[in-house]
Amino acid sequence: MRAILKTKAAIVGALMASTTVAAAGDVEVLHWWTSGGEAAALNVLKQDLEGQGIGWTDMPVAGGGGEQAMTVLRARVTAGNAPTAVQGLGFDILDWGNQGALADLNEVAAKEGWDDVVPDALKAFAKVDGKWVSAPVNVHSTNWVWANKAVLDANGIGVPTNWEEFTAALDTLKAAGITPIAHGGQAWQEATVFDAIAMSVLGPDGYKAAFIDLDEETLGSDAMKEAFDRMAVIRANVDDNFSGRDWNLATAMVINGEAGFQMMGDWAKGEFLNAGKVPGEDFLCFRFPGTTEQVTFNADQFMMFDQGGAVSTEQAALASAILSPSFQSAFNVVKGSVPARTDVSDADFDACGKQGMKDLAAAAASGNLFGSMAHGHAAPASVKNAIYDVVTAHFNGEYDSQTAVEELVDAVSIAK
Ligand code: BGC
Repeated sequence: MRAILKTKAAIVGALMASTTVAAAGDVEVLHWWTSGGEAAALNVLKQDLEGQGIGWTDMPVAGGGGEQAMTVLRARVTAGNAPTAVQGLGFDILDWGNQGALADLNEVAAKEGWDDVVPDALKAFAKVDGKWVSAPVNVHSTNWVWANKAVLDANGIGVPTNWEEFTAALDTLKAAGITPIAHGGQAWQEATVFDAIAMSVLGPDGYKAAFIDLDEETLGSDAMKEAFDRMAVIRANVDDNFSGRDWNLATAMVINGEAGFQMMGDWAKGEFLNAGKVPGEDFLCFRFPGTTEQVTFNADQFMMFDQGGAVSTEQAALASAILSPSFQSAFNVVKGSVPARTDVSDADFDACGKQGMKDLAAAAASGNLFGSMAHGHAAPASVKNAIYDVVTAHFNGEYDSQTAVEELVDAVSIAK
């Protein structure tokens, strides 16, 4: 039975469950892939392992972006009972690696030549002091927009290429009585929208200066104020019930034609596919206007927690399965992401997946690939959370744009 865990009850549950976890020969996998599309992708991995005779103990912790999963993880580690493998993102992986909590995967990595096929942008979050500590599953990116094609066609709307065209499309949908933007009011979702908006306004240099270098001047700039002004426009185009809504329910609004667009990472594509929808026919994917050359990425990885001694046979088998080219294709086709290896063919990917792979390669080659602030690849969790707080407070009307900019500068300077 899948236990979907939330909030504090989740921690208690997780600690209790920890007395009944994985038998020898099993892996216990902590993750936050609980939506329909995510679960379908996870099954690809489960079946792969089960095919090798390795049992799977599932430890799902609901909550997009993984904040709740990370809370449960901390509780498990503190209790001296870390799961075998844990989904992780960016700076969180480095943090656990630097604490010495992760097993050394160098042997399997060397045997399989990971160094030659995993791009540097990912290696930066998978290796600590020259040691592989996690297995990269995929590359997602956040600067996408998802649209219901029939809704756009019926309202004479084409794919917008700049902010003015985008806002004109929002006005048209609103006048037609359709929710222009499907959104779930959770801090990480607002931050995900902000990734794309900030990139389009600040440009790649400004995005890097603000969220990666944490440069005060950029954080406090007029351009940042403009980014917040645009967030207010997004806020004016969501429905009244947005607060607290899960991201996949927002995706469902686009799938059902209740809403025109969703600004969300490409895990949203997994929901469209899981609902039997076809890109180009039922739905459209496009980069947020003004960010067509950039990619703000996040990569899911599985951290292998040190179980006391060498990496276990099961952990090595899981890592090896994750990095295999056939798994990288099969999994990412379903998940909406693109492979974490550069040598996987795009033949089995749909149009959005092919575009994702092309965009990633082009962005990496032209210096336009940046870690996503919203998904833990731009700055450590303390800074990320500080930015979340300001972005979400502004989105919910607590701050005007000028105040938000000032709060952002303060919050980042305290957190860093
Ligand atoms: C993860 C995705 C996941 C999404 C929503 C992101 O942080 O990278 O794999 O689908 O959160 O849960």
